[in-house]
Amino acid sequence: MPGIIPAETIESILDRVDIVEVVSSYIPLKRAGRNLRALCPFHHEKTPSFMISPDKQIYHCFGCNAGGNALSFVMQYEKVDFLEAIDMLAKKAGVEIEHSASGFKREDVSVKTKLAKINELSSFFYHKNLLSLSDAALARDYLKQRGVNEAAVKNMRLGFAVDKWDSLLEYLKTKGINPAPANQLGLIINNDKGGFYDRFRKRIIFPIFDIRGIVLGFGARVLDNSLPKYINSPESPIYVKGSHLYGLNFSKDAIREKDSCLIVEGYMDFFIPYAHGIDNIVASLGTALTKQQIRLIKRYTHNVVLMYDSDPAGELATLRSLDLFIEEGMGVRIVSLDKGYDPDLFMRKFGVGAFKDRVDNARDLFDYKLEFLKSHYGSGDIQKKAKIIDEMLVTINKLANAVVKMDYLRRLSEELSVPESAIMQEAAKIKSKYTDFAMSADRDKNRLAKFQNNPIAFEKLLVGLILQEEELIHKISADISPGDFQDRQLGKIMATVFELVRLGKTIDPHKLLHHFSDDAEISSLVCELSTKEEEMIDREKAVKECVARLKKQGTRNTRDKLCEAIKDAQRLNDQARLTHLLHEFNDLVKGKVF
Ligand code: GTP
Ligand code: MN
Repeated sequence: MPGIIPAETIESILDRVDIVEVVSSYIPLKRAGRNLRALCPFHHEKTPSFMISPDKQIYHCFGCNAGGNALSFVMQYEKVDFLEAIDMLAKKAGVEIEHSASGFKREDVSVKTKLAKINELSSFFYHKNLLSLSDAALARDYLKQRGVNEAAVKNMRLGFAVDKWDSLLEYLKTKGINPAPANQLGLIINNDKGGFYDRFRKRIIFPIFDIRGIVLGFGARVLDNSLPKYINSPESPIYVKGSHLYGLNFSKDAIREKDSCLIVEGYMDFFIPYAHGIDNIVASLGTALTKQQIRLIKRYTHNVVLMYDSDPAGELATLRSLDLFIEEGMGVRIVSLDKGYDPDLFMRKFGVGAFKDRVDNARDLFDYKLEFLKSHYGSGDIQKKAKIIDEMLVTINKLANAVVKMDYLRRLSEELSVPESAIMQEAAKIKSKYTDFAMSADRDKNRLAKFQNNPIAFEKLLVGLILQEEELIHKISADISPGDFQDRQLGKIMATVFELVRLGKTIDPHKLLHHFSDDAEISSLVCELSTKEEEMIDREKAVKECVARLKKQGTRNTRDKLCEAIKDAQRLNDQARLTHLLHEFNDLVKGKVF
C-alpha cells in the first residue's frame, strides 16, 4: 500500500503535522513533563498510560502497547486504511497528494480537490444566506417549526438558496471560479443560450459530507408541499451515490462508542433524533443501502438497527438490505413504526423516551421478515406457507453461522407448523455458497480429509476461519495457544489475535495488518487468509477439528523428539538423563490419544 503514494509526499505530510495537534483533536491531553498524557483511546483504563512525545513525534500506551506516529494514530483511531489516513492528514497539513500508481493521475487529484473546494465555498454561501438574509426568514421559520434547532443548523451547515436564477453563479464569479467546474458539480446548469443558471432555488440546502467532512454534494428541499420535494446534486467526480452515508462524519465516534448504528432514511429523520442525543445515527437518503455503505458502518460497529418509514417503499428497502447485512456478517434489527410515521414524526409526537424504547425493542430479522411475508402472502394454506418458506430460506441460507442457521430453521418450522424435516429438504435444494445441508457434514469431512498429512494446512485453515469469523476464537481459545502452531508466521498472527481478544478488541484484518506493518510476508498472509472463502459449512466444528489435529500433531512432535533424545541418552549411556526422559515420556503417553 504505502508504495502508491510517493514516500516524499508521506514524509512531507508527516513533517507538517504535529502529533500533539493531531491526537488532541481527538482526545484531551495533559502535560506530563516533556511529554503529554491521556487516557488511552485504544483500551479501557482509569489512569492514563497513553503518552505522547512531541520530541519524537510518536505515541505509546504502556497499558496496551499501542504505539506509532501521527499516521498510525489516525489509522487506528478512525479505523481507516493507510490511504484514507494519509488523506486526512494531508488535509490537516494542507498538502496535495499525488497518488502516483493508484490509477488516478495527478491532475485528477487536483481536479477533485478543486471541485471539493467549490462545494465547500458554496456550502458556506448557502449557510450564510440561511443565517442572515431576510429572504431566508421563511426557511428559518420552517426549520424551527420542524424542530431543527440552531445547533443543528450550524453543526450540519444547513443553508438556503434564494429565489433567484443566478445568486450562486454570481457569488462564484466574485470568487474567481469558472462556470465549468461548478457545472460539473451540478451546482449550475447550462441554459439554451450557452449560459448558466443555479440548480437550487428557493430551497433549504443540506450539504452532504463524506466521512472526512468534505462536501460531496447537496440535497435541497422545498419549503412547502410542491414537487419535487427534494432536488439533489447529480453524481460528479467527487460524488458517487451509494458510497457514503449522510451524517456519518458527525456520528462515527458515537457509533463506535455505543457499538451500534441506527439507520434512517431522510435528513429530518437524522436531525431530530440527533438533536435529542440519539447521536449514533446515519441516513441512507432514500436509496437502497449498498454493500459499500454497509462496509463503511462495519468499520465502527457490527450492530445496526434499521428504522425506515412505514410505507411500502420503506418496508421493501428494509427487506432488501437485510440480506446484505447478513452477507457482511452484521447483526441487524428492525423497528417498524406505525402506519404514517417516520422517525422524525414519531420522535416529535411521542418523545425521546418512547423513541429509545422502540430502538431497544427492535425485532430481529427473522421475526421481521416472517411477519412481513405473512401479512403480504397470508399464511392460511400450504401453498402460501411454501412461498413464505422459500423466501425465508433465501435469507437464512446466507447466515454464515451454522448454529444460528439451524435455530432459524427450527423456528420457521414452529411458526408455520411445518415439519422441520420438510423445511430442511427445501433448504437443501437451494444452492448457495453455504448450503447443501444434507451433504454439509460429508463435504466438510472430505475437505478436511484432504489435509491428512499436511499439518500446516490445518493451521492455515484454522487461522483463516478465525479471521473470517471472529466469534470462532472464543470457541477454541481455551484449548490452544499460539505456541501450538508449527508455522512461525501463523503462530505470530495467532499471538496477535489472542492479544486483541484479551484486550476486548475486534479482530478485523485492518487492525491485524497494523501489527505487521513491518512484515510484508505476514501482512499478505493475513490478507490472503481473511479474504479466502473457506467453504466449511459447520465452521465451528471445523475449527474444533483443526484444534484437535494441532494438539495431536504437537504431542506427536514432542513424542518424536523425546524418542530421539532417549536414543541419544542410551547411546551415551547417560543413566540420569535416561531416567528423566523416560519419566517425561510416560507422562506424555499417559491418557493421551495418539
Ligand atoms: P421530510 O418530508 O421533510 O420529512 O423529508 P425527509 O428528509 O424525511 O425525507 P423522506 O423520508 O420523505 O425521504 C427520504 C429521502 O429520500 C430524502 O431525504 C431524500 O434524500 C430522498 N427524497 C425524498 N423525496 C425526494 C424527491 O422528490 N426527489 C429526490 N431526488 N429524492 C427524494
Ligand atoms: Mn420525513
